[in-house]
Amino acid sequence: VKKILIDTDPGQDDAIAILLALASPELEVVGITTVAGNVPLPLTSRNARIICELAGRTDMPIFAGAAKPLQRELVTAEFVHGKSGLDGIELPEPQMRLREGHAVDFLVETLMRLEGITVCALGPLTNIALALQKEPRIAARIEQIVLMGGGCFEGGNITPAAEFNFFVDPQAAALVFAAGIPITMAPLDVTHQALTTRPRIAALRALGNRTGLACAAWMEFFERFDEEKYGQEGGPLHDPCVIAWLLKPELFTGRRCNVEIETSSDLTLGMSVVDWWGVTPRKQNALVLGGIDAEGYFKLITERLGALP
Ligand code: BDR
Ligand code: CA
Repeated sequence: VKKILIDTDPGQDDAIAILLALASPELEVVGITTVAGNVPLPLTSRNARIICELAGRTDMPIFAGAAKPLQRELVTAEFVHGKSGLDGIELPEPQMRLREGHAVDFLVETLMRLEGITVCALGPLTNIALALQKEPRIAARIEQIVLMGGGCFEGGNITPAAEFNFFVDPQAAALVFAAGIPITMAPLDVTHQALTTRPRIAALRALGNRTGLACAAWMEFFERFDEEKYGQEGGPLHDPCVIAWLLKPELFTGRRCNVEIETSSDLTLGMSVVDWWGVTPRKQNALVLGGIDAEGYFKLITERLGALP
């Protein structure tokens, strides 16, 4: 069983990623940390608790982290995720509490205590960067970071050059990519191939459990924005790619490359510059995913979520 920490800014697609992890016996989620991103921190922290309660996991340690990026003002994405960040279905207000203390302290403490932890990063990388600044020794102790963010050839979804998670906190992303930790990156190139088509949503609804119903409703809400925008059926289901890669890496193709993050240009702030063709001598610091078996991905999600309440 692989031990994972999930750092997240839920978000409908974050929610489905968390549920996929909770539903998978190969993974043990040792804690969830929240960060400001899709919506402000109080809402991402609320949403994380709603998701764990939906899965019947009121025991999960959830810690709130950074309310704003390292240097910039917070940029949010209510235009994609709705006002709550989790629009699409009414779920009960969470009863479980956040744990006392800051997510960054929990990350440092857990990573110093436990060996071989995989960090799954589903939002802006602020908490992870702060943890690395606070205790640089965690870099050598983290087994790997698997993250959703950036783009290779795909361009951006918040500016022409940048993907949302990296754009919100480019300084944090740059710091994480420079830390010497093994990284697997699921960029927009992959997630834009993983579309929530109607039959895929219908399969989730047909599970008949409350998790399937909620995920179908979230996907329906979440897709509307992208469907209009990109003129295709369904929207990209980004964050569960992180968990799916851990469960079934054979669903993906990719390549080890150097990745650098732009932190200063106004035009391309937050852009991930991926040396896909190896045209520089810069060090390969990430496995960049490029392809996905989308049918297999949705099949995995649907099968696993059937095991939850
Ligand atoms: C990423 O940004 C958020 O909107 C999603 O949750 C995902 O993590 C996609 O760019
Ligand atoms: Ca996210």
